[in-house]
Amino acid sequence: MLYSKIIGTGSYLPEKVLTNDDMSKLVDTNDEWITTRTGIKQRHIAAEDEYTSDLGAKAAIDAIQSAGLLPENIDLIILATTTPDNTFPSTAAKIQAKIKAFNSTAFDVQAVCSGFIYALTVADSFIKAGNAKTVLVIGAETMSRVIDWTDRSTCVLFGDGAGAVILQASNQDESSKPSGILSTIIKTDGRYYDALKTNSGPSMGNEKSYLQMSGKEVFKIATSKMPEVSLEAIKKANLSPSDVNWLVPHQANVRIIDAALKKISIPAENTAMTISEHANTSAASIPLAFDNFIKNNKIKHGDVILMTAMGAGFTWGSVVLRY
Ligand code: UT7
Repeated sequence: MLYSKIIGTGSYLPEKVLTNDDMSKLVDTNDEWITTRTGIKQRHIAAEDEYTSDLGAKAAIDAIQSAGLLPENIDLIILATTTPDNTFPSTAAKIQAKIKAFNSTAFDVQAVCSGFIYALTVADSFIKAGNAKTVLVIGAETMSRVIDWTDRSTCVLFGDGAGAVILQASNQDESSKPSGILSTIIKTDGRYYDALKTNSGPSMGNEKSYLQMSGKEVFKIATSKMPEVSLEAIKKANLSPSDVNWLVPHQANVRIIDAALKKISIPAENTAMTISEHANTSAASIPLAFDNFIKNNKIKHGDVILMTAMGAGFTWGSVVLRY
């Protein structure tokens, strides 16, 4: 049976950091409100001449090096992003050129904060169908570019960054404990389209796009859908919640994560948390947290990982894998 095995991870965070105290100089907010409501302490912000493709390319090179590969070994690049450099072409194509992975096909996936879960699902399907062998999956975002910096209810929540993984086709016996992706589930409900969106886009005119959010609605749906789809994905992998060594959730709000892990019955100490340093980096948040916990020797080979996310669309989903 073919499995998509993770053979490398990488990440990149822009140098500039904005703390909660820095935010309080921009809008009427304070460290106490942001910390207690969200768990966020700081966020990284891309430099003026630094784009999503730059962040994604740096995370990609880190992942390729950690896998001991060369860029020419990659045959597919999937970039999850909601903040592309240009409306077209895909930012994945720009990253392909930047990292010189010229033997690859490259395209973007758009599912906002669930983007990395969607991209892993697509990559796994390509590998299982025999259509790709070595896939670079990236989540990269410059959310700072679509934020209304005068809206305190949203601008304090987001940050910039990128994370990446390399998946490789691996033929394994199902009777032993296979490593790689064990199950994926992705879902969409477009009836919630307006609950979290940008005010405009290319087909609606050329207005500058800003993020608008009904925070309470997102909060409510996230705390029910993430645990629901996670339990479904664990079952699909023929495992139970007690088999999960690490939950790597989308980092949107520490209160959403706490509510989710209680419903899945995963202890807080087995949850990869990076929200205090990274804030919400949309499609980049899961691969950033995953790489961080691997590089800090917390996540180890053989560990069962549950990734889950929920975002605009609404979109949501989970991936279960053995690292
Ligand atoms: O990846 C998915 C994307 N988004 C999310 O997951 C976000 C989901 N939602 C949330 O995390 C929460 O709803 C928020 C953190 C956004 C807001 O928390 P809340 O507990 O729902 O606060 P609220 O919107 O009910 O606001 C409470 C108060 C309001 O003041 P009044 O009306 O009670 O006087 C707000 O005006 O807090 C005020 N407020 C702030 N105060 C200081 C809103 N933003 C701020 C702020 N600083 N930054």
